[in-house]
Amino acid sequence: MTALHLSKIGNKMTNKVGVRAIMHDIQEVLNSNLNQYVNLSAGNPAILPQVYEMWEEALKDIVNDKQLKNLISQYGSSYGTHELIDCIREYFFTNYRIKLDREQVLITSGSQNLFFLALNSFCGTSKEGRVKKALIPMLPDYAGYSGVALEEGVIEGIPPILSKLDHHTFRYEFNKQAFKDKIAQDPDVGAVVLSRPNNPSGNILSEESVQLISQVCKDYHIPLLIDSAYAPPFPAINFIEMDPIIHDNIIHCMSLSKVGLPGERIGIAIGKSDFIKVMEAFQSNILIHSSRLGQRMVVSTLKSGQLAGISANHIRTHYKQKHDYLKNLLTIRMPDDIPWYLHKAEGSLFGWLWLEGLPFSDTDLYNKLKAENLIVVPGGSFFHGSQSSSHNRECIRISLTAADEELKKGIDILSSVVKEIYSSNFIFQTEKI
Ligand SMILES: Cc1ncc(COP(=O)(O)O)c(C=O)c1O
Repeated sequence: MTALHLSKIGNKMTNKVGVRAIMHDIQEVLNSNLNQYVNLSAGNPAILPQVYEMWEEALKDIVNDKQLKNLISQYGSSYGTHELIDCIREYFFTNYRIKLDREQVLITSGSQNLFFLALNSFCGTSKEGRVKKALIPMLPDYAGYSGVALEEGVIEGIPPILSKLDHHTFRYEFNKQAFKDKIAQDPDVGAVVLSRPNNPSGNILSEESVQLISQVCKDYHIPLLIDSAYAPPFPAINFIEMDPIIHDNIIHCMSLSKVGLPGERIGIAIGKSDFIKVMEAFQSNILIHSSRLGQRMVVSTLKSGQLAGISANHIRTHYKQKHDYLKNLLTIRMPDDIPWYLHKAEGSLFGWLWLEGLPFSDTDLYNKLKAENLIVVPGGSFFHGSQSSSHNRECIRISLTAADEELKKGIDILSSVVKEIYSSNFIFQTEKI
């Protein structure tokens, strides 16, 4: 086959490096023989019975009301349907006393697409030829941000402060001074982006930290994207109190995926109309609009109160129990005398494990676990190329979407591999993914 002559963007998008290399490898492994492996890598949410019933009911209502034809056979506005936008406005006014105009809400085709629109509008090569960057205030953070940038080297992040809370628990702390210094010294920050609750660590940045980040961004006229894919009001996978924070310079980003609708691709951006207008134009060029059927399903569940209710009463409880279960398993099954630390459970659907002093990299550990039929996500790609510390190569992400039995099997494998690794006579052959 002759070599393809791809554009720079074509090459960037197809290059299997970082998270794409890992995800590609995981996919190949699981396709080869799914049943052989304990899969603790999934980002797909568990579909709880109450969640499925809610969406099934919403779809049945659409069909019974003879709405289906109108929804699937017509194009619509690139902002999203008026009825969903008005529903979001009403929800934010009733619950948070936040008044939004229609032009301040954009329905996107999933929140991954939302970040694609925003990061490529506010970051990348500017008219003046300078490369504007997207800054993550506290690493690690969602690996997908590096994937959506059309240009290389756009994502940068600030290393966290590591705080050990007890023998086997730690938490990331936001380095305020480093953030303030970076913004003050680097004129090329085009946007700031963070997930809250955080994927992968489950950390929730305090309200005080977010207010500070927002104020600094405001002072320097930088849009701040707050990725709320796991936040309240839906899917509400927060185990500590938190509320949406909305200011003039914030783009509040929501997703319907973790509340059981990843296949319908619905994301929501809320922000100043100037920001929203830019993203709407971009969206209309590349994909016109999000699924109208999915948008209609969201309207009925939001209006009935089920979306927020099921999130707070079932989804949040489910993942909190899963995290407690994981912590308990690790405590019982992992060797007590090696320095392993689980990030404090504050939210999201992952356990984030730090193996301090791991004698080789996280990808080597991934390969070693894979050889024992356990699949986890090595943590390096969540640090977006930052080489600031050996910590960046010492973490793995464990998905809480697996059944208890699978989690137990997985932690047994992990524990025996870790015991072997930390024993003094261990020799490891590195292998490339
Ligand atoms: C933090 C975070 N942001 C955004 C996304 C993208 O989600 P979606 O495009 O399905 O809304 C994900 C998906 O896992 C995520 O974890």
